[in-house]
Amino acid sequence: MYQYNEVDQTLVNERVEQFRDQTRRFLAGELPEDEFLALRLMNGLYVQRHAPMLRVAIPYGLFSSEQMRKLAHISRKYDKGYGHFTTRTNIQFNWPKLEEVPDILAELAQVQMHAIQTSGNCIRNTTTDPFSGILSNELEDPRPYCEIIRQWSTLHPEFAYLPRKFKIAVTGAPEDRAASQVHDIGLHLVKNAEGEIGFEVLVGGGLGRTPVIGKVVREFLPKQHLLSYLDAILRVYNLNGRRDNKYKARIKILVNALGVEEFTRLVEAEWEFLRDGELTLTDAEIERAKSFFKPFDYDPKAAEDKTLADKLSADQSFATWYEKNTREHKVEGYRAVIVSLKPYLKPAGDITDVQMDLIADLAEQYSFGEIRSTHDQNLVLADVKKSDLFAVWQALDGGNMARPNIGTLTDMIVCPGFDFCALANARTLNIADQINEKFDDLDYLYELGDINVNMSGCINACGHHHVADIGILGVDKKGEDWYQITLGGSSREDARLGKILGKAVAADEVANTIESILGVFVEHRLDNELFRDTVQRIGMDPFKENVYAVAH
Ligand code: HEM
Ligand code: SF4
Repeated sequence: MYQYNEVDQTLVNERVEQFRDQTRRFLAGELPEDEFLALRLMNGLYVQRHAPMLRVAIPYGLFSSEQMRKLAHISRKYDKGYGHFTTRTNIQFNWPKLEEVPDILAELAQVQMHAIQTSGNCIRNTTTDPFSGILSNELEDPRPYCEIIRQWSTLHPEFAYLPRKFKIAVTGAPEDRAASQVHDIGLHLVKNAEGEIGFEVLVGGGLGRTPVIGKVVREFLPKQHLLSYLDAILRVYNLNGRRDNKYKARIKILVNALGVEEFTRLVEAEWEFLRDGELTLTDAEIERAKSFFKPFDYDPKAAEDKTLADKLSADQSFATWYEKNTREHKVEGYRAVIVSLKPYLKPAGDITDVQMDLIADLAEQYSFGEIRSTHDQNLVLADVKKSDLFAVWQALDGGNMARPNIGTLTDMIVCPGFDFCALANARTLNIADQINEKFDDLDYLYELGDINVNMSGCINACGHHHVADIGILGVDKKGEDWYQITLGGSSREDARLGKILGKAVAADEVANTIESILGVFVEHRLDNELFRDTVQRIGMDPFKENVYAVAH
């Protein structure tokens, strides 16, 4: 993984000291609240329902055991002993004290972490596939390009005050596990007719109150032009994006207003000035970025392992976990382990200090000291030897992180909702509990197959509800929590927005409504058809009829 050089470290250290002084002046009454607001947001510090909320950047979701240990220490010393992983693969702390935030940032800087650009109208953390670099069908590892984008975009003077926040996702495999089509820019590594690898560029995707699937603006961009082309897109947005209305400020609104052809024309015209200029990536630069993501020193003997088969046949619980929570690895003898941060009746994505330390230890002992965070709020240990899986499973099980529910109905994305978020309309964590209580029979969930349920506490859509098989959106009706259900969304390569089922349902009816929906699915399902395919095949009507006949 990327390691800071002296310039990076100095920059981060200096930012900590700058913020320390800003916080001191604010607390001493020397800096008015509105001036401090802009400064704290530049350092990932929001003010939420109970306390400040600090969002720490995890570039492209990749971090080390040492960094995880530091996060555990921070949660213990400065917070309430836990943190929350988000759909943008960052971690949030919900209870820091404002006066201690400079100390937290100083501790983070010791392990090459910070909270810069995790908030504000700038280029946010670039996200990617959590299985990058270990897939046999990957065209190329996307992480070096994420790192190149990170270096270019961090504290970029021209793009520090964009009309609105800006999110980029990069993928390198045919599958899309980074929800790239609902990002401001989605970059897909692709091969052209000449066999060269470059990027397909999508622009103008996003969720929130106006959900939009990104549109292709360039089918093939040679790699060396990556930054100059991104620069051209950002310039067109910076100049033409709306600044008069916060709700119409994202690039998706501009692309829709101009039409994708006109938007593309503007970008290409801007690019003419920039291409082959100083942003052009040389082969040496690309190789340098790649050098930070070299394959590990895999054990060639790992492929000879015979112990796994015995363990699998001897222990049914282990076998179930193996099937649900591990994934193929391109190196024989290895698997990727998905650590479930969706234990029974605990908030999705939450992790305690003890669990953080355990993961740090496991990563160190069994997975080359690296950890990845995923956009569906889980963690991945990407490089575990098959012969170590049993030990890893036992340890994870002891730490309540081996629930074999990956891909099932209870592997939900859930934003914190009204319990923490000042923007929320409704609670989400109680609804997630209600669903967990109703659907606690794993065998039933396995029979249903892969289904993803995503939930947001308001229209901002932090929980990606628009792109779920079953989406749940909290709405406020005269001070009461109601929930609007959508079906048939996808954030995968076939990205599409879910359709609204009908009238919102009352808080105590959400799990029952899901039960009715699943009843229709089971009735119409062909063989082992997936929920999403049945919805596409039979449409919304049978679901509507059933749900509203029963619930109203
Ligand atoms: C302090 C708490 C939070 C605040 C104030 C907040 C605020 C917002 C706002 C205002 C939007 C809408 C932006 C727009 O459409 O222009 C948004 C979108 C989003 N946020 Fe949050 N959010 C918070 C926490 C989270 C959490 C916990 C997650 C992940 C679980 C998250 C991930 C996202 C994502 C994925 C989107 C939608 C994607 C898009 O940008 O189109 N945020 N957030
Ligand atoms: S969706 Fe709404 S309630 Fe949930 S975290 Fe985002 S802003 Fe808060």
